[in-house]
Amino acid sequence: MGIQPVATFHARRGRISALTATRLQTLLPGRAVPASVLQPPGAPDRADRVVLEIGCGHGGAALAYAAAFPRAHLVAVDVHPPGVARMLAAAQEADLGNLSVVLGDAVALLEQRVPPGVLDAVHLFFPDPWPKTRHRRRRFVGRHTLDLLASRLTPDGEVLVATDSADYAAHAIAAVAQHGGFRAAVVARPAWRPVAGYEAKGIAAGRSIVLRRRRSVGE
Ligand SMILES: C[S@@+](CC[C@H](N)C(=O)[O-])C[C@H]1O[C@@H](n2cnc3c(N)ncnc32)[C@H](O)[C@@H]1O
Repeated sequence: MGIQPVATFHARRGRISALTATRLQTLLPGRAVPASVLQPPGAPDRADRVVLEIGCGHGGAALAYAAAFPRAHLVAVDVHPPGVARMLAAAQEADLGNLSVVLGDAVALLEQRVPPGVLDAVHLFFPDPWPKTRHRRRRFVGRHTLDLLASRLTPDGEVLVATDSADYAAHAIAAVAQHGGFRAAVVARPAWRPVAGYEAKGIAAGRSIVLRRRRSVGE
C-alpha cells in the first residue's frame, strides 16, 4: 500500500551553490501549492485545469505551459535543487502566477498530498530512461505509479509522456497495456512545448505518448 521501494531518480551528492540556496530560500515558499488547486473540478477558486509535471528539471516545459495557458494551474515537481532553483528564478522573472513548485519526490507528493480525482493532466517529459536492465525497476512508469496516476486523475484525465528513448516508449506502452487502466496512443508533440534540451537532442527519435484513463473496460 503506497510503497515505492526504489527511487526513480539519481541520488546526487554534493553541496548546492549559494545562488541555488538563496533562490530556494526566497522563492520556494511563495510557490507552495494553493489549497484550491487540490480541490476537485468545479470547486470555488480552482483553476480551469490542474496539471502536474513530474520531473520538470529546470522548468523549460513547465514555464512554457504556464505562460501559454494562464487559466490553468501547473504544479511542477523535481528532486533536483539546482533545476528547481533555476525554474523559480525564471517564473519570478516572467511573473507567472499559475505555477506552483515542489522540491521533492513526485511519488511521495502523489501518495501523501494529492487527493483522488483532482488532476486534469500529468506531464512526464523525458523521464530518466534507466537503460541498464538492473535499473529498469527505477523507471517512473510502472505498476505502482500507474495506479497512483489513475487514482489522482479526473475521469477524463490524461498522462502525456515524452521520451527520446525507443526502449522507454516500448516499456511505457507495455506497462500501460499490462495495467489496463489507461489506453495509450502515440501522438504528435504539443506545439507549446519548447524544442530544447532532451527534446532538441532526440527530436528525430522523439515521440509523445498520451495515456488516457480508460473510463470503462473495453472502451
Ligand atoms: C532526464 S531529466 C528530464 C528533465 C526535464 N523533464 C527535461 O525534459 O529537461 C529527468 C528528471 O526527472 C527527475 N525525477 C526523476 N524521478 C523523480 C521523482 N520521483 N520525483 C521528482 N522528480 C523526479 C530527475 O531529478 C530529473 O530532473
